[in-house]
Amino acid sequence: MKYLAGLTAIAILAGSAAAYAAPPADAAAGAVVFKKCASCHSVDPSGKNGLGPNLRGVVNRKAGSFAGFNYSPAMKASGQVWNDKNLARFLAAPRQALPGTKMIFIGLPNPQDQANVIAYLKQNGAAKK
Ligand code: HEC
Repeated sequence: MKYLAGLTAIAILAGSAAAYAAPPADAAAGAVVFKKCASCHSVDPSGKNGLGPNLRGVVNRKAGSFAGFNYSPAMKASGQVWNDKNLARFLAAPRQALPGTKMIFIGLPNPQDQANVIAYLKQNGAAKK
């Protein structure tokens, strides 16, 4: 038994080193998570910005590229595209993932919350790949 438990632990460790795999996502639960974002962000089709940029269609958009929003130099220079992996990494701990960002938000440490809110963002105007 002890031997088996050891093997399981090794398998789990090996798994965590593998490529990023998001947990199954629930967009409805993501809508609830998005309440934490809604004081600064909207997914409104009108494209209006708040304290943060409009997030309609943000999935697979280039970071710092929404017209009319005054991004931090760090965001504009980051050069990344908001795919699932980059979003999850940023949302987990924004100021650690992107030093210099002006998104003052503690983050979503729970991978399930990240996956759910990303699913919600996809439902709200994500560009087709
Ligand atoms: C206190 C306000 C605030 C909260 C709360 C907040 N954000 Fe932000 N967010 C910002 C600001 C400001 C920026 C622009 C950052 C920059 O330019 O460095 C931003 C940028 C972003 C970006 C990059 C957008 C782009 O066009 O490149 C994403 C994605 C994002 N936020 C998602 C979220 C999500 C999802 C949540 C909730 C889990 C959230 N934010 C919570 C203020 C906030």
